[in-house]
Amino acid sequence: MGIYFNEVTHEYASYSKKTYKAIHNITLKIEKDHEFVALVGHTGSGKSTLAKHMNALLFPTSGSLDIFGNHITQKRDKKISYNSIRKNVGLVFQFPEYQLFEETVERDIMFGPLNFKIPEEEARLLAKNALKLVGLDESYLKRNPFNLSGGEKKRVSIAGILAINPEILVLDEPTSGLDPEGKNILMNLFKEIHEKTNKTIIIITHDMDLVYQYFNRVIILKDSELSYDGTPDKLFKSDILMDNHLDYPNTIKTMKYLNKELNKNFNIYQKTAADVIKEIKRVMSNE
Ligand SMILES: Nc1ncnc2c1ncn2[C@@H]1O[C@H](COP(=O)(O)OP(=O)(O)OP(=O)(O)O)[C@@H](O)[C@H]1O
Ligand SMILES: [Mg+2]
Repeated sequence: MGIYFNEVTHEYASYSKKTYKAIHNITLKIEKDHEFVALVGHTGSGKSTLAKHMNALLFPTSGSLDIFGNHITQKRDKKISYNSIRKNVGLVFQFPEYQLFEETVERDIMFGPLNFKIPEEEARLLAKNALKLVGLDESYLKRNPFNLSGGEKKRVSIAGILAINPEILVLDEPTSGLDPEGKNILMNLFKEIHEKTNKTIIIITHDMDLVYQYFNRVIILKDSELSYDGTPDKLFKSDILMDNHLDYPNTIKTMKYLNKELNKNFNIYQKTAADVIKEIKRVMSNE
């Protein structure tokens, strides 16, 4: 069980009557459990479009998907419960403005649980807990979501999906625009959810430091097509990033720079700043 793409293409209709291919011929399997996946690619490569297929928000213009056993093709099918798909696959949008619409933060987070027939009081409790998980205190519950900062809106929209407790979480750039502390709170939260529940989590990001540090699978889109699907280790040890207009993590760049400037032989494949320091100390102590 999971999300299976079978030769999926999506073309947006444009005003000029030409169509625009946003994703092309994507075949991909994401299982319900175990996976912590980073989805990366240059701007406009099709990441958000791909994500919107994962809970049938968009339909393919050709090809098909199987989402938790539901066969999704070009058209809406009356026999399929799209509500149950959305309970299985929770999608947090890239732009939280599209996700928030209630008068208070509390009502906004409660919306999903209420939609899935959870009683009012229980939904209220879920909202309170979800808000805490994303690092906001209870004083936010009665606030109007439209008056929040960009980062706060982002956290509230994430809380709204966490409150539904879906089987798979898909998060479209959840850490963009957040300060470093906010980024770490969220990444550690996603990792913790993944480790405790074994749920698959898919995160779209441009941040290669996060990709190297946290993920065990990386999917790259380039010009609408699947360009890489494998481990971060293999990716960062290859030239694939350059071909995809993507950058290396800062740790690797720093180590390469030090090797060149100081004429050293540090192992460049370090995941965190702490690993970098450890490697420098190791080599220096052997000199
Ligand atoms: N509603 C739409 N109508 C027409 N074209 C669209 C629409 N949404 C996206 N596109 C186009 O499809 C392509 C892929 O867009 P998408 O938003 O999936 O890219 P992305 O990889 O998420 O980019 P980013 O990193 O900037 O978020 C882009 O060229 C975009 O202009
Ligand atoms: Mg996007």
